[in-house]
Amino acid sequence: MQSSDIGLIGLAVMGENLALNMESKGFSVSVYNRPFAGEEQVVERFINGRGKDKNFFGTTSLPELVNSLRTPRKIMMMIKAGSPVDEMIEQLIPLLSPGDIIIDGGNSDFHDTDRRVKELYQHKLYFIGTGVSGGELGALHGPSLMPGGAPEAWPFIKDIFQSIAARLEDGSPCCEWIGPGGAGHFVKTVHNGIEYGDMQLIAETYHLLKNLTGMDNEKMSALFAEWNTGELNSYLIDITSRILRFKDIDDTYLLDNIRDVAGQKGTGKWAAMAALDEDEPLTLITEAVYARLLSALVEERKKATERYGSEEAKIMSIDLNKLQDALYAAKIVSYAQGFSLMQKASVRYEWKLDLGTIARIWRNGCIIRSIFLQKITQAYEAQPMLKNLLFDAFFTQKIKESQDGWRRIVSEAILNGLAIPAMCAALNYLDGLRTVHSPANLIQAQRDYFGAHTYERVDRKPGLFFHTDWTGVGGRYHLWSIYSLKPNR
Ligand code: 6PG
Repeated sequence: MQSSDIGLIGLAVMGENLALNMESKGFSVSVYNRPFAGEEQVVERFINGRGKDKNFFGTTSLPELVNSLRTPRKIMMMIKAGSPVDEMIEQLIPLLSPGDIIIDGGNSDFHDTDRRVKELYQHKLYFIGTGVSGGELGALHGPSLMPGGAPEAWPFIKDIFQSIAARLEDGSPCCEWIGPGGAGHFVKTVHNGIEYGDMQLIAETYHLLKNLTGMDNEKMSALFAEWNTGELNSYLIDITSRILRFKDIDDTYLLDNIRDVAGQKGTGKWAAMAALDEDEPLTLITEAVYARLLSALVEERKKATERYGSEEAKIMSIDLNKLQDALYAAKIVSYAQGFSLMQKASVRYEWKLDLGTIARIWRNGCIIRSIFLQKITQAYEAQPMLKNLLFDAFFTQKIKESQDGWRRIVSEAILNGLAIPAMCAALNYLDGLRTVHSPANLIQAQRDYFGAHTYERVDRKPGLFFHTDWTGVGGRYHLWSIYSLKPNR
């Protein structure tokens, strides 16, 4: 009787590649794909194709899949997030035994993962929601994995997960236990938000190079390649350089033939929504989401161009070192915001996230892999409770060195009508953070004026709230009075 190490449901490209990766590391894998109309032969095709003569066991029903696994059974789903995951779990529950493990490797909403962990405990089953990053090739050769959920399951899947994950130079795997409940999928959501931010910053840099300097694709490609040898070294900078010089079948540049409307599947938006839930000003990533939305307003963009004129390519020389500084500094802010969000959520959900380790497992395999992440690990190793990466000595120094260039680049872009929302948002965040007297006193006064929402005073202790009858007809008190310690905020 077959007794495979793990079962994998969902043989789309990510699932197929993960299965091949597991098998190549010496694990036996049973595979199953829900039969769709016209797609009944998926398993057979895989077993006779890429899976041929390998340690795979093809199954054509869920009972067959379940019965082919050794206990405790481990079943990994690589299927569409949302209701398909719930439907699959529902079908699996009656087939499984206490202690069996279901793993969701899709980009699921962490709230759903949290709920599923709890629901499966009621059936004495363990649920894992894991982030899987690195795209198709990562899945095949070594992704970054972010598993979270029922900690009881981790010892049983650790070997498989750490064997298939990407590795760092010292041989350590880009996979560590993230935390309970929805922690793994939350961290993957923040990863994706940061991915959106990095991509947007690079796109804005391209926009400036193209429209301010008039640089051609080959030169831009060379510049990104050069930056990739330094502190900006990362997968996304590398592929940008390759994309810029990639030729279409008619020998034109493929990039120039691609419509400027960005798609999205929703994880960036989830990161922004999670930030609002945690009262975290995740401005750069949120701007990156907005930039994609704005790019899709094709009709409005056309009308606005007719009405207000469009950006015009200016040929002027800008200091490329300053542009590099602007990109690097804005990237620091983006990660500072993302990591701060993880810290807040960790406290709220009691996940005990190890931020230094998270930065470490992102250093290879995933889409945002970069040498920059090493500095983040070092920052949290030095100060595990660091409130904001901008307070780390290395990043403080970097921001100070980059500030001048960053300000000049942002000003130049604004003066020339070039939209660079993420770079700008990052600078505004820094300036907002280092403001001694913010104008929020006026916001508080307005709130109290029209809604008696109370305010704190600079000449009294924080936590004491006051209300003023601003109009003479609004309240019992003439000037100001202590309203209460629990104000109407
Ligand atoms: C990864 C990616 C991946 C994501 C795509 C598409 O880590 O491998 O984050 O999970 O699905 O990048 O995302 P969008 O369609 O939202 O751009």
